[in-house]
Amino acid sequence: MKELSGESLKTIDEVVARHKDDKGPVIVMLHEVQDNLGYIPFEAMEKIGAATGTSVAEVFGVVNFYAGFTTEPKGKHVINVCLGTACYVKGSQALIDKAMELTGAKINKTSADGIFSLDATRCLGACGLAPVCVVDGKVIGQCTAARVEEEIKKIMHEEHMN
Ligand code: FES
Repeated sequence: MKELSGESLKTIDEVVARHKDDKGPVIVMLHEVQDNLGYIPFEAMEKIGAATGTSVAEVFGVVNFYAGFTTEPKGKHVINVCLGTACYVKGSQALIDKAMELTGAKINKTSADGIFSLDATRCLGACGLAPVCVVDGKVIGQCTAARVEEEIKKIMHEEHMN
């Protein structure tokens, strides 16, 4: 496990201090930690558990229960590919395969260089646009492997320029 920066630990402490007297503080704290750090590190679960009298196992259970929480740091750029039924039958697996090939990230993981996260999602509620992918919040309907490649290469290009 990578050690957290002092700044991240300070953020966690501030969140815990701010909400420890709230009602139902665990969820509120988890949301705020994730909003600030982009994920929920183990240290946050320990601190939240200690401040609220909840076992780390219970906090972990909450994190695991809600699909919106993640315990892994996200990459700088996030690619979501819908694997809901409508998108799947229209070929979203090929989009995922292309994204994995180009980024080196596995499904629901972050690439080793920390640039890309690749998330497979359930139906995004835009089945009329199937297959759908979302690149850094931009929804791309009738997406193709070529379009995925174009988007990823554009990001790679920008990253190399920076
Ligand atoms: S199945 Fe992909 S948006 Fe509905």
